[in-house]
Amino acid sequence: MAVPVRWFVMLCAWGLALMAVPGLAADVPDSVAVLITYHSLSGSTEKMARAVAEGAKAVPGARVALKRVGEVTGPELFSSDAVIVGSPVYWSNMSGEVKTFFDNWQFKFGAFPEFKMRNKVGAAFATGGQVSGGKEVTMLTILAAMLGNQMIVVSGGGAFGASATTEGDSPGIDDKELAEARDLGRRVAEVAVIIKRGARK
Ligand SMILES: Cc1cc2nc3c(=O)[nH]c(=O)nc-3n(C[C@H](O)[C@H](O)[C@H](O)COP(=O)(O)O)c2cc1C
Repeated sequence: MAVPVRWFVMLCAWGLALMAVPGLAADVPDSVAVLITYHSLSGSTEKMARAVAEGAKAVPGARVALKRVGEVTGPELFSSDAVIVGSPVYWSNMSGEVKTFFDNWQFKFGAFPEFKMRNKVGAAFATGGQVSGGKEVTMLTILAAMLGNQMIVVSGGGAFGASATTEGDSPGIDDKELAEARDLGRRVAEVAVIIKRGARK
């Protein structure tokens, strides 16, 4: 019994000694929780969401959760470091489900008046049937809801987030659109790590 205790004490001492080496602790990546949440009826926005998650997972230290908007709980939302929200374009704007999700930040979860989402990283992605049918408006209204919650919004993929055209001459999601989605996930996770590291200093 005495031998394992001695080993345990020695391992702890080695661990503490290593942490004291200048620069070594700083190299340990900060762990960030990235929540990717979306609404999708026919699967296109869900496909983009999975690619966003792949991109975020590529960043060391990122813990990624992928959920439909209706499944997200208050504790999950408030314990995340970054939230990426995806919507199909409905009538040139975010879908009702995604708008209800944002409304529930207050009605169900009580984000205000403390601004519980303050300084978390936020970003958007969207899919729409037409080339010029409202994807940018959809992403911008998602970002506007985040700004109203005093979040730090970032882009990635495209100027306002990642998007895909899913109907007409461009059915489904192509490789370029998936690459944009991965780029968005990676950028958001990277920024979340930078902000967490900055807050730790
Ligand atoms: C009620 C409704 C409204 C829509 N309005 C638009 C629109 O205004 N502009 C557009 O580009 N696509 C519109 N679409 C097409 C969807 O945005 C598109 O098919 C989207 O990729 C669906 O995403 P999902 O497969 O994740 O459900 C609409 C679809 C529905 C069902």
